[in-house]
Amino acid sequence: MDMDQLKRQAAARALEEVRDGMQLGLGTGSTAKHFVELLGERVAAGLKVIGVPTSEATRADAERCGVPLTTLDAIDHLDITVDGADEIDPELNLIKGGGGALLREKIVAAASDRMIVIADDTKWVPTLGRFPLPIEVIPFGLGATSRAIEKAFAECGVSGQMAVRKAKDGHVFVTDGGHWIVDARLERIVDPASLARALSAIPGVVEHGLFIGLASSAVLAGGEGIRVIER
Ligand code: A5P
Repeated sequence: MDMDQLKRQAAARALEEVRDGMQLGLGTGSTAKHFVELLGERVAAGLKVIGVPTSEATRADAERCGVPLTTLDAIDHLDITVDGADEIDPELNLIKGGGGALLREKIVAAASDRMIVIADDTKWVPTLGRFPLPIEVIPFGLGATSRAIEKAFAECGVSGQMAVRKAKDGHVFVTDGGHWIVDARLERIVDPASLARALSAIPGVVEHGLFIGLASSAVLAGGEGIRVIER
């Protein structure tokens, strides 16, 4: 079965958790896009839900699929956020941000009663870090911020190359919030919670792609079928 079919299967399984009247966080990326499309089909069939998109790309997808949208300023909470991930560890800590939407993704996930992560099972890893860690930064003072990030890495027992993310056209990638992303190749993050805290304490760091304790469950689709892991 191809990867895209697995992603769609995971999305379909998460959709089973959605009930009439729910307020939903809508993730970003190729897996979350399947969820938005399937949700759109259910809305067309009469399901009443409202969504908050985690990126301008997801906003456009949701509008195309007929999913009604709102903002976090207009509602008091979200019932469920369904989003993809770049890596998932056995404690359901995540690396996210491969698509560059980590800041809004984290705000939306943190405002949700539950976060369901959907993925093909290649995203499941014993230890986070093989996927380069995205760190969203303010362009101003990037030299100083990078040095502070390296210090945080050393304190947390990791090291690796950092590079400012480029868009396909060769220009610096700019997030929906107008910031830049530094991708850090760390290979193995032994203590993701400590690293998350250390990065969050750096003034020029807007947000980072370590999602610690936010996911409530993960739906992993693989050749052997679907596995649901609860935290
Ligand atoms: C977007 O910023 C990311 O956090 C995505 O959720 C993550 O990169 C997973 O994307 P795919 O579903 O496309 O692999």
